Amino acid sequence: MNKNKKVEISVQDLTVSFRTTQGMVRAVRGVSFDLYKGETLAIVGESGSGKSVSSRAIIGILAGNAVIDKGHIWYEGQDLTKIPEEEFHKIRGNKIGMIFQDPLSALNPIMRIGKQITEGMIINGKRMKNRYKSLYHAEKMELLNAKLQIQELTRLYETNEDEATQMSKEEYQTKVKEIKATMPAMRKAINAKRIVARKQVKEEYAAEKAKTAEILSGLYTELKAVQATQDKAKIKDVKHKIEAEREKLRRYVKVTRKEAYERAIQIMTEVGIPEPKKRFKMYPFQFSGGMRQRIVIAIALTADPEVLICDEPTTALDVTIQAQILDLIKKLKEQRGLSVIFITHDLGVVANVSDRVAVMYAGKIVEYGTSDEIFYNPRHPYTWALLSSMPDLNSSDRLTAIQGTPPNMLFPPKGDAFAERNPYAMEIDFKEEPPLFKINDNHYAATWLLHPDAPKVEIPELIQNRINVMEAKVKEMTKNA
Ligand SMILES: Nc1ncnc2c1ncn2[C@@H]1O[C@H](COP(=O)(O)OP(=O)(O)OP(=O)(O)O)[C@@H](O)[C@H]1O
Ligand SMILES: [Mg+2]
Repeated sequence: MNKNKKVEISVQDLTVSFRTTQGMVRAVRGVSFDLYKGETLAIVGESGSGKSVSSRAIIGILAGNAVIDKGHIWYEGQDLTKIPEEEFHKIRGNKIGMIFQDPLSALNPIMRIGKQITEGMIINGKRMKNRYKSLYHAEKMELLNAKLQIQELTRLYETNEDEATQMSKEEYQTKVKEIKATMPAMRKAINAKRIVARKQVKEEYAAEKAKTAEILSGLYTELKAVQATQDKAKIKDVKHKIEAEREKLRRYVKVTRKEAYERAIQIMTEVGIPEPKKRFKMYPFQFSGGMRQRIVIAIALTADPEVLICDEPTTALDVTIQAQILDLIKKLKEQRGLSVIFITHDLGVVANVSDRVAVMYAGKIVEYGTSDEIFYNPRHPYTWALLSSMPDLNSSDRLTAIQGTPPNMLFPPKGDAFAERNPYAMEIDFKEEPPLFKINDNHYAATWLLHPDAPKVEIPELIQNRINVMEAKVKEMTKNA
């Protein structure tokens, strides 16, 4: 879409259903979007529109009854809908972090928050083990790819829905056999590489240890000398140096408690938790809602993620605290160069935060564009409804609630899912699904109103007035800033 920007995550035609006793719930029905590096993409829509399900699919934590019917989620050359759990583990919480609406349920109530912040760092911080694994990673990926190829072939063969890839049983079996034939050599290569890697890591560690021993021996001599002078400050200084050398060697092997503690304090400061050393020892119930959300954010940051998914992170908080958390997320995004997916049911929340907005309705993206396009030039009647249901900037009144209720996703309606509730619906809306019409390079909307033959429908005056007020306010703010 946009050639100048680097795509961090690309979601393509993602389709997710849930098995239930009443039938399949069609939660996400062909969602596609790109998350650009360093941007904040807001996903906005009413309750049940599929926002959480879409983001949970990205991070691989869908409920057990979920089925990804089709689609891809591309991240660093891997399709996240296809990778096995053991691989996902490395991405989840490491490269992609997620924070949720209710910070209390994300925290363990009976564990001191310091421990909760450092826990992951210590578990993930097995440096020597990681080094060892990294040495035969390439060989392992090759085998993994072969397995994935078989998986994909099996899927194509079993569904046989796509004419282009249809194959006979014989063809399928031959292809699988060919791939399987290459696998023993791959396994052999992994094992051979493992032996070399083990030796290499041992040698590297021995060299590091010898280096430390040499420095330590020098320091011990120095210690004896200063002990003779009885200069307490100097003795303390040398002892300090000895401890630092030992810690360095320990850190070579793994993340130590001390190192994790130091980092935790640093990150707690970064997310604006006052008196972090004192708070480190406290329990979640001793914190306010806003502070708890800061802790949850701190936990997500300990892994230095590249992508942060925020699922209604401020919904449970009151308005002033909400604004503080939004500011924090904005600041972290800028300072750390994060790419952020920000999920909310309230368009008003993201006005100041998002670069682009995707509006979801009944499991689909019905409009997307830059924030300016969505706020100042909305084209889908559902986006109009969302804008009018947003709390007013001055009075916090809502103009109107959105009429009607969202459709039952056990039986998604034919045509435009919003037709039932759309005052401007035409006959075709009940029959045929609208495609995404292009308004400009940065703005698309799926409504038949954009068809060249459609009657011209202007945005309701009330909403236009509201947009004008908003625009004026923002102009004022940027002028003063
Ligand atoms: N485990 C599940 N089993 C059955 N249906 C589910 C399951 N999880 C979600 N759904 C359904 O999938 C649809 C989309 O849910 P999702 O949680 O993504 O909505 P949402 O847009 O995040 O809404 P909210 O604003 O309420 O969080 C809903 O109809 C929901 O009932
Ligand atoms: Mg949700």
